[in-house]
Amino acid sequence: MADANTTKPSVVLLTKAGELMEKIVSLCKRRGFIFQSSEIYGGLNGFWDYGPLGAELKRNIKEAWWRSMTQFRDDIVGLEATIIMHPKIWEASGHTSTFADLMVDCLLTKKRFRADQIEPQSGIAYSYTGATDGASGKESKDSFSVLLPPGKPPESARKVAKQFYQLRGVENATLLGERTEQIKDTTRYNPENGSLLTEPRPFNLMLETYVGPVKSDENKSYLRPETAQAIFVQFKNVLEVSRQKVPFGICQIGKAFRNEINPRNFTFRSREFEQMELEFFIRPDEATEAIYGSIATPSGPGHPGEPQPNWGWQMWHQYWVEERFRFYENIGLPRISLVEYWQKPDELAHYAKATVDILYKFPFSKRDDKGELMGEELEGVAARSDFDLSQHQRYSGKSMTVFDEELKAAWPKLDDAKKSALSQSYFESRKKYLVKMGESEPKAEKQARDESEALSKGYYIPHVIEPSAGVDRLALALICNAYGEDQAPDEKGKMETRVVMKFHPRIAPVKVAVFPLLKNKPDLVKKAKEVRDLLRPHMSVFYDEAGAIGRRYRRQDEAGTPFGVTIDFETLGEKGPELQDTVTLRERDSMKQDRVKIADLPQRWRATIR
Ligand code: GAP
Repeated sequence: MADANTTKPSVVLLTKAGELMEKIVSLCKRRGFIFQSSEIYGGLNGFWDYGPLGAELKRNIKEAWWRSMTQFRDDIVGLEATIIMHPKIWEASGHTSTFADLMVDCLLTKKRFRADQIEPQSGIAYSYTGATDGASGKESKDSFSVLLPPGKPPESARKVAKQFYQLRGVENATLLGERTEQIKDTTRYNPENGSLLTEPRPFNLMLETYVGPVKSDENKSYLRPETAQAIFVQFKNVLEVSRQKVPFGICQIGKAFRNEINPRNFTFRSREFEQMELEFFIRPDEATEAIYGSIATPSGPGHPGEPQPNWGWQMWHQYWVEERFRFYENIGLPRISLVEYWQKPDELAHYAKATVDILYKFPFSKRDDKGELMGEELEGVAARSDFDLSQHQRYSGKSMTVFDEELKAAWPKLDDAKKSALSQSYFESRKKYLVKMGESEPKAEKQARDESEALSKGYYIPHVIEPSAGVDRLALALICNAYGEDQAPDEKGKMETRVVMKFHPRIAPVKVAVFPLLKNKPDLVKKAKEVRDLLRPHMSVFYDEAGAIGRRYRRQDEAGTPFGVTIDFETLGEKGPELQDTVTLRERDSMKQDRVKIADLPQRWRATIR
């Protein structure tokens, strides 16, 4: 079975892009960025391990994100919650009922596909009503059909159909009732062998487990499919202890699990992965308008600048989209490699007001009519209204409302028309939500009226903007973006192809490599180790004394180490006192070499590596 746990992880590769991806996948293994999980047992589809360089890369990504969210801001605090949580959480969030992809199975091979990932095909469909075996008298009345691309002989359809009936015990099958039909843009056939697929049916992506010694339905639980829900359920606790006021955010980094039907494109779609999620809680627009008289809305594209108290949800949403682009650029993904994709109304979750996906142009991304890479999702920035907290309020019976002193003070000063307009708008949005969630009309009306009344006293359920990113996808994007080949001279001065990983120093797994020119000169080795120890408290350092210096440089180029420091005879003062205690500093991308004082090294890269 294609999806069995013992199959090798699939790397779906396209022709030219495939070649590049093959090189990247091979480098990841060779240099210890990414390995197949459980490789010696044949791998486990959708699971990946990070080797020494990959582990450092991932840590650097997470640290950069965490620092940008917490250390550099006053209005966001962190959380670290458990992977397994109360199963009711997933009922409230909608995951148990709706977190599903449509899947289809090949009727011949049983290979499973995600229905939306089947490319439309055209050709002639050969259909059969059954088959018999004259010799044994066996027969099958199962109907079956095969799609043949234009130009293929009918025999190939019959061959596939006979295999289908053989699997049903009809050995020497005579096919019955052959019919042909021209078909355009269908997704009902296996693109690999033309066999008909099963009807699409939903497949819940949550991985189940049991908590406690008894494997019963009451003990069934789930590995979280996203980190976000923990933030919502701990919202009140965090609010109480952190002395934050809306608008403020709670962020979390952690593992998430999805039983993806078709893990593919290396680590892009995995079954175990990490997310970096922020839930940024804001006032409902009605509250902001009551306090500030009007709400600020975007005047055009681009970063709207420092947050202002009169911002409505659209400003906050645009702000977070732009902040997230800045983050990616800051760790080395050029703006031109990214795409801002606004989800269309029919793609939006029913509760979302807007969602922008930030895409990276992976080599395996599809191309548009002009041949441009369209990109694949790195992150979604969603304006999720007050849906999540409202759901947890309904399911847990615990209030998720906050009290807003400024709103309470502002409300009595509004004129009656304004009071009535804001109350009505809030009432309508709350009623819409309640009815959508299945409350009866009168009950929804009463509750929405009460909530609208509470608004006038300063109480509301906050709305949320959610930038939600994947660590592994970002690591893959950074690896793809860093991969380069150029020409560099070998030991004898002959030009050869150099593979170089041009990571931004901020996320490079190793920042600097330290080399003694020769390993059999104790003074050089001693000095080189002194330099290594001097740098270690400030950055990750790799010490290497094995092999010719050119080969050592190449190894670090492949690892993506931005700087190399060589301790040579000049360093020891053998070429005059003015060069004593200086080193050769080699820059990875330009391969330019400079003479630099050892004492200046620790401070030299401070700004670029943090
Ligand atoms: N809380 C919202 C949420 O989970 P999502 O779009 O399903 O939204 C957010 O996931 C991010 O998590 C994606 O943009 C992607 O980077 C990452 N992600 C989701 N599924 C993944 C998978 N199967 N493998 C790797 N990363 C994944």
